[in-house]
Amino acid sequence: MRFSLFGRDVGIDIGTVNTLIARRDSGIVLRESTAVALDREKRLVAVGEEAYHMLGRTPGDVRVMHPLQDGVVVDFQLCEAMLRHFLLQAAGHPAGRFGARAVLCVPGCVTKVEKRALEDAARNAGARAAFMLDEPVAAALGAGLPVEEPLGTLVVDIGGGTTDAAVIALGGIVVKRSIRAGGTHIDAAIMQHVRRTYGIVIGARTAELIKIGMGSALPAGFGSMQVRGRDMGTGLPCTLNVSAMEVYRAIQPQVRAILGCVREVLSLTPPELAGDIYERGMWLTGGGALLNGVADLFASVTGISTYIAERPLDCVAEGARRAVENIAFYRERAV
Ligand SMILES: Nc1ncnc2c1ncn2[C@@H]1O[C@H](COP(=O)(O)OP(=O)(O)OP(=O)(O)O)[C@@H](O)[C@H]1O
Ligand SMILES: [Mg+2]
Repeated sequence: MRFSLFGRDVGIDIGTVNTLIARRDSGIVLRESTAVALDREKRLVAVGEEAYHMLGRTPGDVRVMHPLQDGVVVDFQLCEAMLRHFLLQAAGHPAGRFGARAVLCVPGCVTKVEKRALEDAARNAGARAAFMLDEPVAAALGAGLPVEEPLGTLVVDIGGGTTDAAVIALGGIVVKRSIRAGGTHIDAAIMQHVRRTYGIVIGARTAELIKIGMGSALPAGFGSMQVRGRDMGTGLPCTLNVSAMEVYRAIQPQVRAILGCVREVLSLTPPELAGDIYERGMWLTGGGALLNGVADLFASVTGISTYIAERPLDCVAEGARRAVENIAFYRERAV
């Protein structure tokens, strides 16, 4: 009986783009967009993936909102309502009280006050206890790295809104840098390039498809992709061809910013831990780790072997789930 209660404990990753919930007994049970759709009276009409798919397609009185932007809570009440919705969905308890413990991870830029308020939101949604875990610690734990040992581990989480590079040892963060660079910024760079070069507006989802299809941190590939947009001159829909090379050039500033963040952390790392990292390599997590060529670029610039974690998009939620198993240890180090 006690065991089954603990089994419902959850790890939650509220990211700028994606929110994931992992249950202690069954792994990841929820994978949704961090998005909500509201009507004119600000009532929720859709949450998560369903809301995301309305993006750019909504009738006049429905608005799709992202409660988090660039790793910052832009609308706290929406964020809270969304979290409550997801928690109840993951727990499978529509009545509300699932009585389990929750470990939450939010982007580094979220304020302490907002973190406390999100813990409260998890409790209000029925969690018996809730606490925050540093995102990079969760990312490293979820990647299966030995974070509790007295060894330096470098993890770089390239998310949608932020990139966090951190050196972890003994379960805590030794050095950390966060910057507002990542997937959504790369998409924005592609949109801006197309607008400036061709006078054509493309949607954020189209830009993301271009990035996933042809984006690369290294000048690889000569392919091209046909996409749809709207001609700013005529106002009419149109198609255009975008080449891999121009996408590579357009996203270079973002890629360089992410690389700069990693280099800064390395320059601040105490020598013993830096030695561990040179010996053991660095790990990439977050959806941005899937951008072609990122690991090769990092390895060639820093001289450190660079590995992409298995299932990089799941690492933070999986790490939060593992932290629930060792709750006393991580509670002590909670931010
Ligand atoms: N194959 C891919 N290539 C490049 N980018 C990808 C790929 N798959 C997903 N992404 C990008 O990863 C991003 C989402 O990653 P992730 O879920 O780690 O972010 P997040 O946790 O929501 O954001 P953050 O941690 O910044 O708050 C999106 O911008 C998405 O476009
Ligand atoms: Mg994230």
